[in-house]
Amino acid sequence: MAKRVGILTSGGDAPGMNAAIRSAVRTGIVKGWDMFGIRHGYQGLINGDITPLGARSVGGIVERGGTILHSARSDEFKTHEGRLRALKKLKEKKIDAAVIIGGGGSQTGAYELSQLGFPVVGISSTIDNDLYHADITIGVHTALNTALEAIDRLRTTASSHGRVFLVEVMGREYGYLALVSGIAGGAEAIVIPEVETDPEEIASEILSAYERGKSHAIVVVAEGAKYNAERLAEYYEKHHERLGFELRITKLGHVQRGGSPTVFDRLLATRLGAFATECLSEGRYGIMVSEFEGRDSLIPLSEVVANQRKLDLSLLRLARILAE
Ligand code: F6P
Repeated sequence: MAKRVGILTSGGDAPGMNAAIRSAVRTGIVKGWDMFGIRHGYQGLINGDITPLGARSVGGIVERGGTILHSARSDEFKTHEGRLRALKKLKEKKIDAAVIIGGGGSQTGAYELSQLGFPVVGISSTIDNDLYHADITIGVHTALNTALEAIDRLRTTASSHGRVFLVEVMGREYGYLALVSGIAGGAEAIVIPEVETDPEEIASEILSAYERGKSHAIVVVAEGAKYNAERLAEYYEKHHERLGFELRITKLGHVQRGGSPTVFDRLLATRLGAFATECLSEGRYGIMVSEFEGRDSLIPLSEVVANQRKLDLSLLRLARILAE
């Protein structure tokens, strides 16, 4: 009997998720399997929102941001009862295995499902790039380019007006997006959650940049930093007379999650979608697939949920030197 495999996207969407869906569906079909879309994430799974996916249903989506399966954050699935309901639906719909595309919360959900004995393969996808055993997750490259484009645009207006810009980027509790977009965007300072920040220190970096002849200062701030853009701005407002610089804030927010995936994300998602079905066909379950050390790689979900990815702080030191 043909295997029946459900695909689900969950948590924050990321550009490239559709390319991963397309790849998993088509490689599954080639293996002779019946493929299904589980819509609206884990909540949709609990509600039994499951629909067949043919090769044509995933046509024309490789270039589209978001996820055709929709996404959701489900509080119900976080409970044991909720997960049992989900499992019941999978049994009712005769789904034999699932491919779960998403970030930390989604992979934790995948781990919980696999703990209930259900065969699951996770695909690493989040713009935050905070997953253990993943060099770069689906969506990061596109989100970085979006942030960079904004930073480049902001620099020109900052320069015309001699202003300081605080540019806040996403990333949850992780500073990767801020660090990399800050370096690539030539920021004068970068504020990330991993390093304690003194607003006075950032202020002196800004003032010293002006003293060295710069006509602007771009500070890239991670949303998860203790001093996020709002709190930094509040501080500088209070000390405006003493510090003297003119400041504006731009919060990039969900703009970073939208847009057409870059070639890198399309390729990464396509590779990982195919690798996930390969793993399923070889009977490798309870794992997450990712790019690690430059290659398609897999790791038990138990390790993904138990470990945190470490940020390379040498990049921050380099950013400080390059701000010269
Ligand atoms: O995890 C992806 C992410 O975009 C984070 O960077 C951000 O903190 C969060 O999701 C925003 O979540 P929501 O879309 O629920 O507002």
